[in-house]
Amino acid sequence: MKIKACLFDLDGVLVDTAKYHYLAWKRLANDLGFDFTEQDNERLKGVSRMRSLDILLEIGGKSLTDAEKLDVATKKNVWYVDFIEKMPKDEILPGAKEFLEELRQAGVKIALGSASKNAMRILERLEITGYFDAIIDGTKVEKAKPDPEVFLKGAESLGLSAEECVVFEDAEAGVEAAIAGGMKVVGVGDPEILSKADMNINSLAEMSVKRLEYFN
Ligand code: G6P
Ligand code: MG
Repeated sequence: MKIKACLFDLDGVLVDTAKYHYLAWKRLANDLGFDFTEQDNERLKGVSRMRSLDILLEIGGKSLTDAEKLDVATKKNVWYVDFIEKMPKDEILPGAKEFLEELRQAGVKIALGSASKNAMRILERLEITGYFDAIIDGTKVEKAKPDPEVFLKGAESLGLSAEECVVFEDAEAGVEAAIAGGMKVVGVGDPEILSKADMNINSLAEMSVKRLEYFN
């Protein structure tokens, strides 16, 4: 098989944290005096914390100083971390653990490619850190998705080329990042939003090592 590794986004692919990011951003928007819808939230998926804040402020028509921005981003993160610390272990998304296990059995390498600075905390909470041969998170990258840096670094840490990797993503920016990096990409979630992906699935429960042969 040509594919030697699967590179996973975290939020919205392996674990249902996208809803907690949304709730924390919504709370901040409401505090600042404007509303923030789930549709608006699509623009924040896969996007770094500070860039997300800029988009949020643009939606609300607000401008803040750099010091204020840092302050409110920290506040949002405290609320978010509060949610994930209470998150039950079974919030790992359907099929995720089974697919990780199957990949490991089949000798397919596994990497994380997430913009989140909270990634390690979440993997630990779900007790799945041990599955990963490489972990590239928001503390290790400079350029946010749709820049391919996070996935290219993942492939590099595994000692593989882009063509040997498949990326799993729930965000449009993430799908674009994978394509920009020259990788195949599976869109997990709404096929209309993720129309640029090479394959679309609703959840990892639909995935198997056998299905990776599609990319041969
Ligand atoms: C992921 C999520 C984004 C989030 C980003 C940064 O990519 O999809 O919604 O803004 O990570 O997460 P952090 O945990 O560092 O704030
Ligand atoms: Mg995501």
